Amino acid sequence: MSLLFLVLLLLLPCTSGLPFYNGFYYSNSPDGWGLGHGHGEGLFNGVKLVVETPEETLFTYRGANVTLPCHYHYEPALASPRPIRIKWWKLSDNGAPEQDVLVAIGPRHRSFGVYQGRVHLRQGREREVSLEIRDLRLEDYGRYRCEVIDGLEDESGLVELELRGVVFPYQPPQGRYQLNFHEAQQACEEQDAVLASFEQLFRAWEEGLDWCNAGWLQDGSVQYPITLPRQPCGGLGLAPGVRSYGLQHRRLHRYDAFCFAAALKGQVYYLEHPEKLTLTEAKAACQEDGAQIAKVGQLFAAWKFWGLDRCDAGWLADGSIRYPVAQPRLNCGPPEPGVRSFGFPHPQSHKFGVYCYRQR
Ligand SMILES: *[C@@H]1O[C@H](CO)[C@@H](O)[C@H](O)[C@H]1NC(C)=O
Repeated sequence: MSLLFLVLLLLLPCTSGLPFYNGFYYSNSPDGWGLGHGHGEGLFNGVKLVVETPEETLFTYRGANVTLPCHYHYEPALASPRPIRIKWWKLSDNGAPEQDVLVAIGPRHRSFGVYQGRVHLRQGREREVSLEIRDLRLEDYGRYRCEVIDGLEDESGLVELELRGVVFPYQPPQGRYQLNFHEAQQACEEQDAVLASFEQLFRAWEEGLDWCNAGWLQDGSVQYPITLPRQPCGGLGLAPGVRSYGLQHRRLHRYDAFCFAAALKGQVYYLEHPEKLTLTEAKAACQEDGAQIAKVGQLFAAWKFWGLDRCDAGWLADGSIRYPVAQPRLNCGPPEPGVRSFGFPHPQSHKFGVYCYRQR
């Protein structure tokens, strides 16, 4: 990086008349790349490297194969191809280190960590260096950088990937404000979900989510979305919005969680069964049907993306009782669509139906 800085310094006097955007000027002189050669004279002839990525966020779903587009070119165009290196990496949101995804030098490619075997470089068009990710996972969403390195110069572009999904507030059986950050993370995972990001909660709020209890988000902050200001939820004086308690102590402070469940490949259904069941019987009944008792995240995803609509209360894996309503109607709860919740009844002494999940 200090070399690049030096390049820029050297360039300043001789390029001040040229427009400067998104690119570094560099040399393609035949005598190599060393900055020691002639203090820059003749090394830079105004050719620049430009990397292009889409400005819009890409939306996709879990399990999909997705291509993150990235192209580069030179201005002015060069007649002959030049050797380059490509590096794709994922930026971090919450202080975790960035992750290497893929590095390519000529025909040699290498992928890293959780991306191994799932990514490759797509080079359909000339100067295309798009990244293909297969079998997209819940944790794959985020911002990716496509970096093109030509000799000493590098340029990069950003691609933002979002999964289609649904945000839901989660409280454990013990009730309100029981979870520290780590427990909240685990609670979401147990519901086949992850802690929501601020962007995901914000989008859910735009779509009408209103929840009067504060919950953890992925970045360690605690917030809650209010659509209709009211007395017990911060008062009438505050405008609707996502309200924040800011960053909280991840171990000591306890709140609810906002989980994010991505659209599913599998199927969630209400099990047609002659009798009502205890929780234990419900789990067994789903297994007999070649499925598993559904998790909360799976029920929300099926409601949101498959329009699952059923006015029968059923057990879920965490021992809660819920039912999904896509088309509100009489005797089916409030007038808005939603997943209705009846909390956590005693698992042995109450009998209900059950929602099962079958993988496709
Ligand atoms: C993704 O690509 C793999 C390999 O090309 C293919 O087997 C799989 O069916 C694709 N998945 C989807 C959802 O298209």
